[in-house]
Amino acid sequence: MRNDAQLPNAYHACRLGYGCMRIAGDRDKGRAAVIAAYEAGYRLFDHADIYAGGACESLFGEILKEVSGMRDAICLQGKVGIRAGRYDFSREHLLEAVDGVLKRLGVDRLDVLLLHRIDLLADPVEVAEVFQALLDQGKVSHFGVSNASPSQLRMLQAHSPVPLVANQVEINLDRTEAVYDGTLDQCLELGVSPQAWCPIGGVAYGAWGKFASPAQWRLVEAELDRQAAHYGGDRVGINLAWLLKHPAKIIPLIGSTTPERITTALAASEIAYTREDWYLLNEARRGQRMP
Ligand SMILES: NC(=O)c1ccc[n+]([C@@H]2O[C@H](COP(=O)([O-])OP(=O)(O)OC[C@H]3O[C@@H](n4cnc5c(N)ncnc54)[C@H](OP(=O)(O)O)[C@@H]3O)[C@@H](O)[C@H]2O)c1
Repeated sequence: MRNDAQLPNAYHACRLGYGCMRIAGDRDKGRAAVIAAYEAGYRLFDHADIYAGGACESLFGEILKEVSGMRDAICLQGKVGIRAGRYDFSREHLLEAVDGVLKRLGVDRLDVLLLHRIDLLADPVEVAEVFQALLDQGKVSHFGVSNASPSQLRMLQAHSPVPLVANQVEINLDRTEAVYDGTLDQCLELGVSPQAWCPIGGVAYGAWGKFASPAQWRLVEAELDRQAAHYGGDRVGINLAWLLKHPAKIIPLIGSTTPERITTALAASEIAYTREDWYLLNEARRGQRMP
């Protein structure tokens, strides 16, 4: 059975998720964005305790109180494990961090908890004991990882009392490593759900340091424009269709705070995107034909 088969129906209800990292910059705009996402049909909402120092979670907690029925209709996901620029998977830190998350969100349980960036000093047995304690206390229903290499995921899985359900990594047309380095292969092998952070990085805004060369990027933009003219829509929509085509069922986490963009992004899942166009865009990014 796939690991992610255990997830609540809300997790699988929409092919895209909504990322809450930017919602506290302008609270009114952020509130409108979350409500627009919910009303448009997004059901997976992603948080981390470090986003705006907890302010994104607090704002979301207010929204959950205001919008009747929303808490039970969504899959609420949090991330912990980063403390003051260091990664910390110690029992003390993880348990304290989860209590803070629940308090700010105003809920008694997270549907999914991800370990944000893998602590190089983590003891997987200690992490497993934390998972068990959180399960016993009813504070978390499912666990996963973020930014984990295949070997890191396998190491944590080997000790975990429950299957790890997700790996949230950067995947976009600039950062395509997950396609090649075994991350998505492992997701398919184990049934781990891959979530793409900054899914439109590079295309809609500068990525976290461009990895593609200017020449490669010119090819990407030309191919995006050709495909946008063919399918209709814009570069962002084609970018998302490219992600959604992968058989590992990548969930792009949309981070826009503009209601129209949030709603429009969903249309990418309606595009009958072809294998040929997936490869053409991939080749543009590589700057060379597949061997
Ligand atoms: N696990 C990790 O380490 C990690 C790291 C980073 C992020 N994340 C998660 O991933 C989520 C998504 O990341 P992200 O916020 O960088 O997502 P994104 O969807 O790739 O980028 C959203 C940004 O692009 C801008 N944008 C410009 N043109 C746009 C267009 N045409 N359509 C849509 N947006 C456009 C948005 O501006 P407007 O708001 O003005 O529309 C917003 O600033 C985060 O919210 C967070 O939950 C996780």
